[in-house]
Amino acid sequence: MVQREIVALEGLDRDAVLGLARRTGVFTEEDMGVLADMFDGCRGAGRPCGLRFCGVRDEQGHLQGFVCFGRVRNSRNTVEIYWLAVDPDAQGNGIGHDLVEHVAMHARQEGAAQVLIETSSTGAYEAARAAYRRLGFVKVGGVPDYYREGDDRVSFARRLY
Ligand SMILES: CC(C)(COP(=O)(O)OP(=O)(O)OC[C@H]1O[C@@H](n2cnc3c(N)ncnc32)[C@H](O)[C@@H]1OP(=O)(O)O)[C@@H](O)C(=O)NCCC(=O)NCCS
Repeated sequence: MVQREIVALEGLDRDAVLGLARRTGVFTEEDMGVLADMFDGCRGAGRPCGLRFCGVRDEQGHLQGFVCFGRVRNSRNTVEIYWLAVDPDAQGNGIGHDLVEHVAMHARQEGAAQVLIETSSTGAYEAARAAYRRLGFVKVGGVPDYYREGDDRVSFARRLY
């Protein structure tokens, strides 16, 4: 099996990150604004944000997938994945798997015991929920009507030990 290289993303990757997220078709304009703010917030001088943006590129250097993650502030035990997206043209090839394994490796190195990921209960995220289960996450909770009426927050966690 080919070992993909997972690289830290730079400020120059901003358009590629936002373009890829938009192409997945699942994120709202509001989501896109939050993603842009988080990406920019990690790059402002003197503003260590505690988040990492990492990605996978193809042979031509085009971004195929990215993940944004970080240790939950004031938690010793939990690393959270805030964003995970793979270009529609590249989905189903194990890139999401490799990005999640990268997060798990970092989380272990930092002494965390679990990785958390949250998503929506709507149909648009059914594939993501199925993928998370395949990637070793189990549903650990939810908040009814969190995003809007009828759109719950669903929390998945993967224990590392
Ligand atoms: C969810 C997502 C990141 C998965 O990335 P991916 O590269 O396609 O996933 P992988 O190819 O690594 O697959 C990982 C596992 O999930 C499974 N899987 C992937 N897509 C699936 C789907 N649509 N339905 C069911 N299982 C799926 C794979 O079969 C694999 O399990 P296996 O190894 O046991 O066969 C990707 O589909 C995506 O970017 N979706 C749109 C954005 C999104 O919803 N992000 C999450 C927001 S909370």
